[in-house]
Amino acid sequence: MYTGLVFLAVILGSIIFHVWTPWWWTDIASNWSAMDDTIILSFWIGGGVFILVCLFMVYCIFKYQYKEGRRSEYKPEDKKLEKGLTWLTTIGVVALLAPGLVVWNNYIRVPDNAIHVEVVAWQWGWKYRLPGKDGKLGTSSNKIISDDNPYGLNIDDPNGKDDVFVESNELHLLNNRPVKILLRSIDVLHNFYVPQFRSKMDAVPGTITYYWFEPNKIGEYEVLCAEYCGVAHYAMRGKVVVEDEKNYNKWLAERETFSSFTAKNRNNKLNKKKLVKINNLSSNKNSILRKQDVR
Ligand code: CUA
Repeated sequence: MYTGLVFLAVILGSIIFHVWTPWWWTDIASNWSAMDDTIILSFWIGGGVFILVCLFMVYCIFKYQYKEGRRSEYKPEDKKLEKGLTWLTTIGVVALLAPGLVVWNNYIRVPDNAIHVEVVAWQWGWKYRLPGKDGKLGTSSNKIISDDNPYGLNIDDPNGKDDVFVESNELHLLNNRPVKILLRSIDVLHNFYVPQFRSKMDAVPGTITYYWFEPNKIGEYEVLCAEYCGVAHYAMRGKVVVEDEKNYNKWLAERETFSSFTAKNRNNKLNKKKLVKINNLSSNKNSILRKQDVR
């Protein structure tokens, strides 16, 4: 009897909490409203089943409470009931899964005019690479990453020469223009996630994963890593700035390309060699700057 009342309170409490919940999504800032729709559909199906099952239990508790002299009926099999339940469950599961398949199909079909952006994840941070004027990213490999080649670009690939390096956790994107995110990881699993874009995917070491979205609200958004990746996982944050064409082009023009990075690096090395020579000339034991300090 009391148990039945407790169950009723649970149902009512759940509904009230849903209506006045303090927890809800962030504002959406991309084309993926379909993500919200499928979650809401799952919510209605899951919530509906939850309420029906609880109500059935309340009914049973009241209807079949103890009465002196009443015996329970033994019913090992009920073909009609089983058939009905099987069909209901089947329809429910199909309704839960089928819309998701349709959305997934769109999620991996990238529009032709999408700008390709490589997201490189590492323990613990983000950096990015954009194609240069040719619109194509050069091929790369984690195996050849070094100080001289921080993205592990294939130096024989002409597409990579004008690639733009964004060696910071801040990425800028053009408003109302689809973007294809190509994910790379140089160590463990990570996941590039901006809640307002309603899209994310794991970065898997050894392969390149991808998805696309179209930002449609100018603003600044926080990037979160959504895959547990070690002790500093919580601190693996970044920033995406969605802006208009003028500001975007200005930002892009200020970035360094692979060619200019390599040239600069070569100059730095020459200068450092000169330093070593000067230091060797004054081979003084008390010299502050020693050979091993210069790399
Ligand atoms: Cu990277 Cu969690």
